[in-house]
Amino acid sequence: MNKQVESDRIVIFDTTLRDGEQCPGATLNVDEKLLIARQLARLGVDVIEAGFAIASPGDFEAVQKVAQAVGTEDGPVICSLARAIKADIKAAAEAIKPAAKARIHTFISTSDIHLEYQLKKSRAEVLAIAQEMVAYAKSFVEDVEFSTMDATRTDPEYLYQILELAIAAGATTINIPDTVGYTTPSEFGALIRGIKENVPNIDQAIISVHGHNDIGLAVANFLEAVKNGARQLECAINGIGERAGNTALEEVVMALHVRRQYFNSFLGRPAESEEPLTNIDTHQIYKTSRLVSNLTGMLVQPNKAIVGANAFAHESGIHQDGILKNKLTYEIMDAQSIGLTDNQIVLGKHSGRNAFRTRLTELGFELSETELNKAFLRFKELADKKKDVTDWDLEAIVNDEIQQTPELFHLDLVQVSCGDKSRPTATVTLRTPTGEELIDAAIGTGPVDAVYKAINRVVNVPNELIEFSVQSVTAGIDAIGEVTIRLRYDDRVFSGHAANTDIIVASAQAYVNALNRLYRALQNAESSSNSESQRRQEKVTN
Ligand code: KIV
Ligand code: ZN
Repeated sequence: MNKQVESDRIVIFDTTLRDGEQCPGATLNVDEKLLIARQLARLGVDVIEAGFAIASPGDFEAVQKVAQAVGTEDGPVICSLARAIKADIKAAAEAIKPAAKARIHTFISTSDIHLEYQLKKSRAEVLAIAQEMVAYAKSFVEDVEFSTMDATRTDPEYLYQILELAIAAGATTINIPDTVGYTTPSEFGALIRGIKENVPNIDQAIISVHGHNDIGLAVANFLEAVKNGARQLECAINGIGERAGNTALEEVVMALHVRRQYFNSFLGRPAESEEPLTNIDTHQIYKTSRLVSNLTGMLVQPNKAIVGANAFAHESGIHQDGILKNKLTYEIMDAQSIGLTDNQIVLGKHSGRNAFRTRLTELGFELSETELNKAFLRFKELADKKKDVTDWDLEAIVNDEIQQTPELFHLDLVQVSCGDKSRPTATVTLRTPTGEELIDAAIGTGPVDAVYKAINRVVNVPNELIEFSVQSVTAGIDAIGEVTIRLRYDDRVFSGHAANTDIIVASAQAYVNALNRLYRALQNAESSSNSESQRRQEKVTN
């Protein structure tokens, strides 16, 4: 029997890098995926779904690199998604090979509506494919997960049948996705209970759930699933993912943490047990959320549960009065439990390299010597402009420094002239990897518009700016401004992020950051179409 099945602990499967990355504009490059994967490992997730290996050479490389770097013996299981197709499963198996603990996650649709219109296959045909493909995946790895896509709109009797066959063929985890975010908590709970009661070999596999938040019920659905026997939860940081997103990891984990005594009995534990229900180090939640938001350009709404800027802010007089008398009056969890510090002033312009390094280590950043040097220079520049450098400032500059996409264009200079009686004018200098300097100037409706027009004249890739936001990292006139932008090219969305005390400079850097991603994607598309035509050419000549 699968050891995990007997566990009274909830397995956290993170799909930020796969389903999460599927939302428009959240595209991440390989280095960014690695940064997130490392942080997910620090967060303590049990399984990282690192991508969909067959989807593109970039996806394959990302899964492989995550498997190499993060898939250590004591690290998380590294998983790749694969349709129930031999080529997909083979690519997944190849990509996850470097991981000490590797999983293939294969799926097929099971609802009649998907069978009729999408797969154009009968129920019997899908049963046979599922059985054969799970067995095929099993020929590569011991750890095989099988998903029944659109499970919540599937005839339960058919679902029981296909799950039984998949387990018999070797699936160690069976996943029940609410693909279209359609189910409700009691209905989902009943479905999981039905599976437990009607699939004869269910004790040989762990029951997993995967949810989407289309009607805002994803977390509630998961909690009900746990009460009825689900022991693996598939979620994404900040709830990013297809359409309305996936179940938010931080929300479901903190629900299980804050209310662990309520959930204990459903996991066969003594009611008063304080033992955590998951392996997650909750103190890493806030940092992980910020990293994912910065890299994907998907902003977190201020009132978002757990990680929103207002999640721990008490505004009303009555609440503040209660909190001052006793925190427990209005606080069900401590901000520090998700890693939010008190934002103390820790460093200033006289702080040295050692103090800087020590504080970063305390904050959980592991920087290489080069990264540390670059970040220290940024810190010194900041400390010259800003008297008190807080933990949040440090986090912003370090993230900004280590998260930059490999640069094609580097912003060397940005200069603007504006005011109520002048026409906003900007001059920019960009440097290419060969050292060539490209200079141009433009007039705009405002300083940012002028800067963007000048950059566009240099880069010359037509695009549409669809989102622009500035947030201040701390309070005060000298605060660092973080700029996040999203732009559209054809039907694709690219994001950019930068932090600086000068918001015009941050705006320019964020724009160049997004254009670098766009440019990189164009280059990748060009090189894969070249190798495709070379392959065709070779086929013709062979
Ligand atoms: O939503 C879904 O059904 C999925 C599967 C691939 C698990 O993402
Ligand atoms: Zn999904």
